[in-house]
Amino acid sequence: MRTSQIPSVAKTDIALGLRQLGLNEGDGLLVHSSLSSLGYVHGGADTVIDALLEVVGKTGTVLVPTLTGTEHDGPEQPPIFDVRHSPCWTGRIPSTFLQRQEARRSLHPTHSIAGIGPMTAALTEGHEDCITPCGPDSPYYRLAELGGYVLLIGIGQDSNTTVHTCEELAEVPYHLQSQPTDAVIIDYEGRRHIRRLTLHDWGTPRQFVRIDDELLRRGLMRVARVGNANLRLIRSMAMIEWLVGVLREEPRYLCK
Ligand SMILES: CC(C)(COP(=O)(O)OP(=O)(O)OC[C@H]1O[C@@H](n2cnc3c(N)ncnc32)[C@H](O)[C@@H]1OP(=O)(O)O)[C@@H](O)C(=O)NCCC(=O)NCCS
Repeated sequence: MRTSQIPSVAKTDIALGLRQLGLNEGDGLLVHSSLSSLGYVHGGADTVIDALLEVVGKTGTVLVPTLTGTEHDGPEQPPIFDVRHSPCWTGRIPSTFLQRQEARRSLHPTHSIAGIGPMTAALTEGHEDCITPCGPDSPYYRLAELGGYVLLIGIGQDSNTTVHTCEELAEVPYHLQSQPTDAVIIDYEGRRHIRRLTLHDWGTPRQFVRIDDELLRRGLMRVARVGNANLRLIRSMAMIEWLVGVLREEPRYLCK
C-alpha cells in the first residue's frame, strides 16, 4: 500500500499533530477514527493508540467508541451484548484498543465506550443503567463535564456520537425509540443481566456535517493535519451547550 501518493506516518507525527491541537498531559478525550485516512501508519492502529496515550500521559484518559448497536435492535429483537466478545463496528483503532489488557469497556448494549486511563471507571461505570444511550449520566456527557474533548481522526461530524447527547438533552422528537427494549448484557464475569432501556432510533437521516463550520467559527474546534487526515478536536461541553440551544430552538436542525 506504500506508494508516493500515500504519506508515511510515524508515532511522532501523530503525537505532534495532537500537541498542535492543544492536547496535553492529563486531558480526557473520546476518539472517533479512520486509520486509512492518515496514510500508511507504521505499526498500524497500535501506533495511533500509543501516540494518544503518550500525549495525555499517565494522568490522562483516552476513550474510544465501541458501538455494537444496529438498526434492527428494538423490543422485537433485543440486543445481546457480551462486553468481552461483542465486536464493535467503529473501526480498527477501537477494536485494537479493546484488545489492550488495560482497556475497560462500559456495559451499554448498543453504545459502549472503552477507556484507558485513571478516569475510565468514573466515566464508564453504570452506563448500562442509563435509560438512554447518550444522556446526562452516560460517558459521553460525563466526559464533557470533566472538561474533555471529542477527537475526530480523518472523519467528519457524522461520526461524532456526542451529537446524540445534544439531541437527547434537547429532547428532539426523532432520536429515541418509542418503546423500551429488554436488552441482554453479559458482564466481565460472564453474568447475564437484563436492562429495560430506550434505544436509538435509526429512522431519521441526519446531516451532522452542518455543525462543522459553526464549531470552527465559534472557536469550539481546532483542526490539524497529520499525513492525509484532518484531525478535529472539539471541546465537548462547549459543543453541547451551543448545540442544545440550537436544537431547542429548531429541533430538526440536524435532520436532512
Ligand atoms: C468506518 C470507518 C471505521 C472506516 O475507516 P477505515 O479507515 O476505512 O477503516 P479502519 O479505521 O477500520 O482501518 C482499517 C483500514 O485501514 C487500512 N490500513 C491497514 N493497515 C494500515 C496502516 N498500517 N496504516 C494505514 N491504514 C491501514 C486498511 O484499508 C484497513 O482496511 P481493511 O482491513 O479492510 O484493509 C470510518 O470511516 C469511520 O466511520 N470511523 C468512525 C466510526 C465511529 O466512531 N462512529 C460513531 C458513529 S455515531
